[in-house]
Amino acid sequence: MSSIKESFDLEGKVAIITGSSKGIGKSIAQGLAEFGASVVISSRSQESVDKVVEEFTSKGLKAIGVACHIGKADQREFLIKKTNEHFGGIDVLVNNAAINPVYAPIEKAEEAVFDKIMDINVKAPWILSNLTWPFMQQRGGGSVINIASVEALHPGEGLGLYSTSKAALLMLTKNLAKEWGQYGIRANVICPGLIKTKFSAALWQNEKLLQKIEKTLPVSRMGMPNEMAGLVCLLASDAGAYMTGGVYNADGGYMIAG
Ligand SMILES: NC(=O)c1ccc[n+]([C@@H]2O[C@H](COP(=O)([O-])OP(=O)(O)OC[C@H]3O[C@@H](n4cnc5c(N)ncnc54)[C@H](OP(=O)(O)O)[C@@H]3O)[C@@H](O)[C@H]2O)c1
Repeated sequence: MSSIKESFDLEGKVAIITGSSKGIGKSIAQGLAEFGASVVISSRSQESVDKVVEEFTSKGLKAIGVACHIGKADQREFLIKKTNEHFGGIDVLVNNAAINPVYAPIEKAEEAVFDKIMDINVKAPWILSNLTWPFMQQRGGGSVINIASVEALHPGEGLGLYSTSKAALLMLTKNLAKEWGQYGIRANVICPGLIKTKFSAALWQNEKLLQKIEKTLPVSRMGMPNEMAGLVCLLASDAGAYMTGGVYNADGGYMIAG
């Protein structure tokens, strides 16, 4: 009987994680690297990614840092090129970086904001997936993991455009899974609930609002970034070999609350 524990091993795999200089992305990168993957730390700031690489490599993890603003075509291409040059292939892509520039009623949002959100949260993951596709195909398979949000499934408050973009990312993932299954490439989407990062600070720094949210959650608390990493490691590894086109919530029960 083959070892189930060993099926989580990511030794020899190469993973790109966008937006991994902090927050959820950094935890995901740590998790993948601890399971043996060579990881590419990426964000808009070379200085920030270099710091994470230093932290990881000092612990014996395998990591390089490549700055990439995912909204910029030349930087996306550079990220993929550099990864391949350094590690000789790509097996895992985690589309984690995203933006939410506004908390506003939907009728108040500017058209330019709509375009920006869609560019970063939907178009960039689509193009990055396409750019990694030939490399995954060459390897005989791969895993794309998209970080959406419970907002993809259930509308919140003042997050209309963000919510819409994450719903689009969810459907993009299902289509990738359907079309690329023939190449051995799997695609899955994770929907985090409220996680304590800079991104969500406006929510959890508002004590009254936080109390209200936590009161409705079955786990009675917000999540921490490192609580997102295990699911990604499963989906990236052979332990998740039969999982594709799936939508997995990591939300403290938000989707069953109320
Ligand atoms: N936190 C939550 O409650 C929550 C809930 C549901 C879903 N999510 C999702 O989880 C993901 C990660 O969010 P987080 O909470 O971990 O955010 P975070 O702590 O603010 O980290 C965001 C990361 O993305 C990078 N980044 C931002 N814009 C970028 C761009 N245009 N190109 C490349 N990198 C960029 C940031 O670094 P630089 O500033 O150096 O670029 C940073 O490394 C997002 O997809 C978000 O929608 C978060």
